[in-house]
Amino acid sequence: MEETERMEPFLKVEDLTVQYTAGGEVIKAVNKVSFTLSKGETIGLVGETGAGKTTIVKSILRILPDPPAKIKSGTITFKGQELLSLSEHQMRKIRGSQISMIFQDPMTALNPVFTVGEQILEALRLHRKMSKKEAYTKVCEMLEMVGIPAERYGEYPHQFSGGMKQRVVIAMALSCNPALLLADEPTTALDVTIQAQVLHMMNRLKKELGTSVIMITHDLGIVAEVCDRVAVVYAGEIVEMGDKVHLFDHGLHPYTEGLFHSIPSLTGDETRLKPIKGLPPNPADLPKGCKFAPRCPYASEVCREAPVLLREAEPGHFVRCIKKLAADIKTDMTGKKDKGIDIAAAENRPQGSATDFIKRSRAAREVE
Ligand SMILES: Nc1ncnc2c1ncn2[C@@H]1O[C@H](COP(=O)(O)OP(=O)(O)O)[C@@H](O)[C@H]1O
Ligand code: SF4
Ligand SMILES: [Mg+2]
Repeated sequence: MEETERMEPFLKVEDLTVQYTAGGEVIKAVNKVSFTLSKGETIGLVGETGAGKTTIVKSILRILPDPPAKIKSGTITFKGQELLSLSEHQMRKIRGSQISMIFQDPMTALNPVFTVGEQILEALRLHRKMSKKEAYTKVCEMLEMVGIPAERYGEYPHQFSGGMKQRVVIAMALSCNPALLLADEPTTALDVTIQAQVLHMMNRLKKELGTSVIMITHDLGIVAEVCDRVAVVYAGEIVEMGDKVHLFDHGLHPYTEGLFHSIPSLTGDETRLKPIKGLPPNPADLPKGCKFAPRCPYASEVCREAPVLLREAEPGHFVRCIKKLAADIKTDMTGKKDKGIDIAAAENRPQGSATDFIKRSRAAREVE
């Protein structure tokens, strides 16, 4: 990683391993995950449910429930500070002000007995030391920014629809201008028009304030539009990572190939990651070798023998696949069909698809 050697990255996650203990079993949720993030950069984490994405971002914010969760190893360095060795008191100062998170479920972040305005105001007053008047003005601005009229400041969470509650949570997370935003499927509950506004707002924040973002999403349109780089997570490991053009146009790992094989449509309804046949391995009983081997149509004995390492295939593009790195399955990719991964029309994949995805997803959301 040349980039990381040149300068200390803004965020560096190294060898992060997280396990849960439940029902007498050890669930290996995150296994030696490493990645970096620069200031102002957005990395997308994609992969099926249960892959470990939420556990990774919750580790950064140190909000995993312990027990059952345990960070077994690794370091997380944020602006030169190693977060895992900070005291809870020090960490509390960072949460919300330096690092904010938008949760998948808005209700986990909202308190039902306070008005939405009060909740955003409280976050601001706590972290930004604003006067009540300044904070009030900022809250109204933030509400308007996410498409909620400022007059609704005094209403309670139950008076809002699911999508509106999520917008309140987004306003709260963004109000303190965090340096790092962890967004866990933030737009899933929103309709396309509001999605467009939220994405637009996130892009503005990135441009104006240099906010770095870790974005977990199933939506390929969002990956194309807001992410600079993408990490594909499978069974608690990064199996492929690179800039979005690498992933959309030259995805190498058989899992990425299957996952990204979805043609965007102008109505925006085909831009989600496609499910792949078969199931991910049981995280309490992971395969010894390549964790994707049970579902991979190209698997052979060598893949099953020992763990497969993440290696650089081309500058900045990392892949965890023995055969892809040996470049001996290129022909198989289009030749073999329907052997586990649904890559039925792999040879018909649209050319220049990253650019296509951006164009079409923008058209679908009517952005700008
Ligand atoms: N509180 C918990 N107790 C036990 N297992 C958990 C808990 N939270 C997550 N897991 C397990 O950890 C693995 C990773 O989960 P998660 O990080 O939520 O994945 P993702 O966000 O990619 O869907 C899954 O196998 C999940 O069942
Ligand atoms: S290492 Fe082998 S089993 Fe794993 S993804 Fe590559 S070809 Fe498939
Ligand atoms: Mg999740």
